[in-house]
Amino acid sequence: MVDVDSFIDEKIDEIATEVGDANAVIALSGGVDSSTAAALAYEAIGDQLTPVYVDTGLMRKGETEQIAETFDYMDSLRIVEAKDRFLDALSGITDPEEKRHAIGEQFIREFETVAREVDADYLVQGTIYPDRIESEGTIKSHHNVGGLPDVVDFEGIVEPMRDLYKDEVREVARDLDLEAIIAERMPFPGPGLAVRIIGEVTEEKLGVAREANHVVEEELEEHDPWQALAAVIGKATGVKGDNRVHGWVVAVRSVESRDGMTARAQNVDWETLQRIQSRITGENENVARVLYDVTHKPPATIEYE
Ligand code: XMP
Repeated sequence: MVDVDSFIDEKIDEIATEVGDANAVIALSGGVDSSTAAALAYEAIGDQLTPVYVDTGLMRKGETEQIAETFDYMDSLRIVEAKDRFLDALSGITDPEEKRHAIGEQFIREFETVAREVDADYLVQGTIYPDRIESEGTIKSHHNVGGLPDVVDFEGIVEPMRDLYKDEVREVARDLDLEAIIAERMPFPGPGLAVRIIGEVTEEKLGVAREANHVVEEELEEHDPWQALAAVIGKATGVKGDNRVHGWVVAVRSVESRDGMTARAQNVDWETLQRIQSRITGENENVARVLYDVTHKPPATIEYE
């Protein structure tokens, strides 16, 4: 474990020296990693940093509002409303890697527009150690590692947390007085709810996924999982009233992990699982079934795509 206080001082100095009088941008996702990197860089260079939050429409319930509130102290914060453009870009795509690619491409387009507008020479990124390892092994493409550096001809890439593990990042976040909810928040993937939807991403599936993830996060908070989620994995027959319906199947997953590279499915009690089932099916009449995923990583991954 790194010494957090000296890590922060050191990185603030490093960033200020490297960026000098130039401008920098960072893609702020609202996750622990990019939030911490943005807060660190903002300490170092203030409004020379433009944090860019792209509302892809693939984010968790209330996320955009929360970002706006948490980072309200940064005058340079930009919130880009891009939901419709992302849904268009994803239309008709079912292959997992193609989905990630389409999201990455659209994201780059949105980000590039702002980076050019503010004349940014530096790119700050919240890359952490496991991102680099998994990308090297090409287990799956992480859009927070590839792509962005090629957008604009940046003079430099600043990755203050490239050697940290997730739990170390949380320590840093806490020390930077990021709101508790950010410091404690479960990790959330860059491509958002799209990797929790099997097949094409549609507005309807997104609505089911968003509500179900909200229920799961709320109900499992006491179990303190490393990450808990819900995914829309297909359709199956169910009964609503007197009718047979063909409704959505939602898989619930809750895992314990240190760094996301391996994970254990959590032993969640029956009552909690039933409460989750009842809320998800009750709040959305198009959900026919709720399943609990008991698979560890490996052989499964944490996300569904
Ligand atoms: P998997 O599904 O590979 O996920 O077991 C491991 C951890 O990484 C997160 N994840 C991502 N994070 N961009 C991210 O920033 C991504 O593209 C991405 N894909 C997965 C996942 O939520 C888990 O914490």
